Amino acid sequence: MTQDNIPRSSEDIRESFLAFFEKYQHRRMPSAPLIPKNDPTLLFTNAGMVPFKDFFLGQRQPPHDRVTSVQKCVRAGGKHNDLEWVGVTPRHHTFFEMLGNFSFGDYFKREAIAFAWEYLTDVVQLSPKRLWITVFETDDEAVDYWRETAGPDVCILRLGEAENFWSMGDTGPCGPCSEVIYDRGERHRCSAETCAIGACDCDRWLEIWNLVFMQYDRDEAGELHPLEQTGIDTGMGLERMASVLQNVASDYDTDLFRPLIAALEKLTGHQYAGTDVRADFAFRVIADHIRACAFLIADGVFPSNEGRGYVLRRILRRAYRFGVELGFEEPFLWQLIDTVVDQLGGIYPELRERQAFMRDILRKEEARFAETLDQGMALLEEVIQKTKANGNTTIGAAEAFILYDTFGFPIDLLEDVAFERGLSVDREGFEEKMAVQRQQARAARGGDGFELDADATARALGDLPETQFAGYDALEDEAEVLALLQKDGRSSRAGAGEDVHVVLDRTPFYAEAGGQVGDSGLLEGSDVTVHIRKAWSLGDGRILHTGEVKDGVLVPGVTVRAQVDAGRRLEIARHHTATHLLHAILREVLGSHVQQAGSLVVEDRLRFDFTHPDPVSPDQQREIERRVNDVILSAHPVHIRQMPREQAVAEGALALFESQYQEHVRVIDIPGVSAELCGGCHVQNTAELGLFKILSESSVGAGLRRLEAVVGWGVIDWLRRREDVLAQMAALMESTPEALPERLEDVLAEKRALSRRVQQLESELGQVQVDALLEDAIEVAGIRVLAAQVEVPDVERLREMADAFRAKLKSAAVILAQSEGEKVILVGAATPDAVSKGIDMGRLVRELGQTLGGGGGGRPDMAQAGGSQPEKLPVLLKKARCKMKARLE
Ligand code: SER
Repeated sequence: MTQDNIPRSSEDIRESFLAFFEKYQHRRMPSAPLIPKNDPTLLFTNAGMVPFKDFFLGQRQPPHDRVTSVQKCVRAGGKHNDLEWVGVTPRHHTFFEMLGNFSFGDYFKREAIAFAWEYLTDVVQLSPKRLWITVFETDDEAVDYWRETAGPDVCILRLGEAENFWSMGDTGPCGPCSEVIYDRGERHRCSAETCAIGACDCDRWLEIWNLVFMQYDRDEAGELHPLEQTGIDTGMGLERMASVLQNVASDYDTDLFRPLIAALEKLTGHQYAGTDVRADFAFRVIADHIRACAFLIADGVFPSNEGRGYVLRRILRRAYRFGVELGFEEPFLWQLIDTVVDQLGGIYPELRERQAFMRDILRKEEARFAETLDQGMALLEEVIQKTKANGNTTIGAAEAFILYDTFGFPIDLLEDVAFERGLSVDREGFEEKMAVQRQQARAARGGDGFELDADATARALGDLPETQFAGYDALEDEAEVLALLQKDGRSSRAGAGEDVHVVLDRTPFYAEAGGQVGDSGLLEGSDVTVHIRKAWSLGDGRILHTGEVKDGVLVPGVTVRAQVDAGRRLEIARHHTATHLLHAILREVLGSHVQQAGSLVVEDRLRFDFTHPDPVSPDQQREIERRVNDVILSAHPVHIRQMPREQAVAEGALALFESQYQEHVRVIDIPGVSAELCGGCHVQNTAELGLFKILSESSVGAGLRRLEAVVGWGVIDWLRRREDVLAQMAALMESTPEALPERLEDVLAEKRALSRRVQQLESELGQVQVDALLEDAIEVAGIRVLAAQVEVPDVERLREMADAFRAKLKSAAVILAQSEGEKVILVGAATPDAVSKGIDMGRLVRELGQTLGGGGGGRPDMAQAGGSQPEKLPVLLKKARCKMKARLE
């Protein structure tokens, strides 16, 4: 802390904020990852409230009704997108940190306003004279509370929905808001005559804090539904606050960016804030973008062509392109990772853990892009020239799509460059082409036709309660049928042979989740039997059992005995426990950057996708197998423990984002080996897995690897299949599996000897032909002239044979032809004396080829041609002989 007791460094600001709200009974929460949990409506965590969305909506119970956090945020792509402002203004970023305080049904406007004012004027001691307040135009309450808190003179401005109504995304929690604007002073005003708060977006007016009064849930149709309980969501940008407290005009001059700028200055040899406006712009873009890249990769996003990966790719490429402007000719961004980690690794340990990995991913992606840029730029140049030459000002969708699809040239980059050259791009047409391609990809993936749309299903189920899951231990249970769903929605009966989704009040069936496949089994009532293919969930606690009525008629209201296929479940559990072992051992063998990126657990195999830049080598695979099997064979107990989340994390349990805000979590603990938060099914002792075998290793995208493996009976099956193949091979080779390698070596040696013999015979055969043909050669002026058709296997032999004639006859002009099917090949060879007497094989043979509908050429002493129409050969060869004869006479 500084002498005047005002927090000024970014570190002090973070701490002072959290401590201030802790003083007012807020619980300090860790930053959630940048990838929102199970939320398809959102690309990235774009505000401090995102991890708390369900608490605002009343869908889940918060751990505490007042919390405070410093949340890492990305605003690129999606509703809140600041990408194109980055570098242009001193205050917009793709990645930034948001300080916030939140209330879930606890305090509301009055306290939120009082807290903000106290922090701003007391803790960081901003002059009230510099603070302006904006409120939603009809929010009289907020106006009153501000006056009550800040005094009657406080400057308040009422603004409309665009400025003072905040929503997380197109749907979800929202409400009117009130912003605190810091007036940087006259000195920073822009030149517009109308420059004034609320009317101007220039650098003078800096929004530092937004207080959102959460009151509504917006649905897909855009309608607002009042929330059951109101809430508070505030957000203060750390970078902006730092610029105010450090008394600098731009975020880029704060301690959050200065080290990055300095590192870039060192790498480029250029000075930031020098005389070159364009270079300064590039500095800012790179300093901003590298932080976003680092944090996104650390949270498991990889450069790719869709979704989050594509946004990362765009950011990275944009940074790279600006680097090229600064003179970089090779990947350079990766070298800035260390600076980001030095600065923020203490607060966000994931950065430190994945430091080497981030450098690696960046470097590879940069190198790949450098190539694209080289190739793509040349192509784009052609497209631009052509467009201009045709008198057009718009690059067509077809060209844009080819550049994108075939050469990986990003559309936004294309637009940037086109713009610089005075052209635009037919974006609409391009998007249409993209849509067609996506549609084709979807069609190619197919579907089983009986899958229901999750939203429609949820609507059809109305207010049915959550299904009680009782299947961790028991695999059979009595349950009541609450509802049936068929293709057209709810149904009141399903007869034999019909497909149906069944909802029960309780179930032992595990619904597909966390990569573990859903259970299958039977529902049996007094006179109905239903085969269940799989159980799955809508993600809201209601479980659907999908299958076919085999006998009788199923109606809602009856009681059934729900029975899970126990053998299959055990195999699934084996593979799930094996997945945890594999995860732990991968981190041991490959490093702690290994992070689960996807997993599939079924009854006969497991698939595990994880972050790792290189292929897992055969030696590493062997080592992984050895260690996993060592744990299995040492018969470790598998404990399932319920505990407070904090304890689990303190004990080092691996936690995926899903359980981030659950108070109590389920930990699968294999002491000394693995501890992982997980809701799935497991065995009780590792010995139950039998044996672990890796089946395959492959790549599933940049920086992502996939291992497939098998345990339990699956290994026996696999061994059996291998054994069968071996037995089959042994039978074919008239050998035994043990003796196979030796037998194969013998066979291969025999094959080599035979090939040699065949070659020898072929050349002997050629020789015989040569001898026979020699008799046909006529002598003209001391030169032996020959034109004949021969039988040889390929053109090489034909040349060899022509050469043999030349050598044998000393003075000769020879044309040989070979035909196979419709194809004819001709070779001509002449000795120097024949050439000096006027023989030009190049011409002769070419003409022959042309007559045969082909072509060819060569030198006067050696030439080759090809054609078709073999039936013409005899006559043509005769003519050729006459021609040669005539030349020599
Ligand atoms: N969610 C609000 C914002 O992002 C306040 O945190 O502005």
